[in-house]
Amino acid sequence: MKLQAVTPVILTLLPVTTAWGTLGHTTVAYIASNLVTPPTTLLFQDLLYNSSEHYLARVATWADSFRYTSAGRFSAKLHYIDAQDDPPERCGVQMKRDCGEGCIIGGIGNYTRLLLDPSTPRGLRNMAAKFIVHFLGDIHQPLHTESLLRGGNSIAVLFNTHITNLHHVWDTSIPESHVGGYSLPFAQSWAANLTDSILYGRYKTQAESEWLKGMSLGDPEGSALIWAGESNAFVCSTVLPEGKEGVEGVELSGKYFENAVPAVESLVARAGFRLAEWLDLIALGVERDEL
Ligand SMILES: *[C@@H]1O[C@H](CO)[C@@H](O)[C@H](O)[C@H]1NC(C)=O
Ligand SMILES: *[C@@H]1O[C@H](CO)[C@@H](O)[C@H](O)[C@H]1NC(C)=O
Ligand SMILES: *[C@@H]1O[C@H](CO)[C@@H](O)[C@H](O)[C@H]1NC(C)=O
Ligand SMILES: [Zn+2]
Repeated sequence: MKLQAVTPVILTLLPVTTAWGTLGHTTVAYIASNLVTPPTTLLFQDLLYNSSEHYLARVATWADSFRYTSAGRFSAKLHYIDAQDDPPERCGVQMKRDCGEGCIIGGIGNYTRLLLDPSTPRGLRNMAAKFIVHFLGDIHQPLHTESLLRGGNSIAVLFNTHITNLHHVWDTSIPESHVGGYSLPFAQSWAANLTDSILYGRYKTQAESEWLKGMSLGDPEGSALIWAGESNAFVCSTVLPEGKEGVEGVELSGKYFENAVPAVESLVARAGFRLAEWLDLIALGVERDEL
């Protein structure tokens, strides 16, 4: 009885911003684990204390729980960058203007450097690895690179007749409705398809020629800023092509959804592909230090 009385209060306190939901994050992680080299797999299986094929996927949403603990409160702002742009007319991310007191760009930079530093204690390396797996996912969710109405959290929309908000639609409703579920097996099967498209299919050319552009372990902030700018461009082209007016109070499970799916697939694919490359580069860097 007591629990029932308390539930509604808890519900209203639930986080509004969760980033790619579980499905998006675990799919990004599985794509990366499909693509990394064997030494990278061994390094991160060791750091994350799990030698199964799920070693990345099982920690992919850890950062979204941690941010709501008192120990993790400092990390909440590291899940996004609030681009002060003006969609749909003008999109764009600028570090100085948009990063505030810390943002996802700095988060990726700092935790990458901690992973590379041989003097980082093991517990902190473990945490850094979990942050990196998560943040490379978040930065590829367009509404994690947008300030407008709290990244769409304050834009009320409908999805399958349910009232929700635009941020949640991009985090969760679109991916889940496309794939049919959110558990690890669904993520694994979506990841298998997207990995196939990266290696042999519709993303092959783009992945090889464009998705690694500007990526450098010597400049993690610069690399992350490129990824943020790219996903922010989707805010103008696909998320809000007609501005707030085009989506507010509108049912998005029809045409809007169909138009969004190719963008979501491509963003999840490039997040997984880039995460694999990033972890490979880190593993190479760590190996060099150990020689
Ligand atoms: C590794 O992770 C999987 C998936 O969460 C879990 O089922 C398994 O028990 C874990 N293995 C170890 C050794 O922790
Ligand atoms: C990154 O580390 C620097 C130096 O310790 C610190 O000043 C900065 O606040 C950190 N940024 C983030 C986003 O954690
Ligand atoms: C994966 O691809 C198969 C074959 O094209 C398709 O039937 C299935 O729906 C796809 N699954 C996901 C989750 O994308
Ligand atoms: Zn997040």
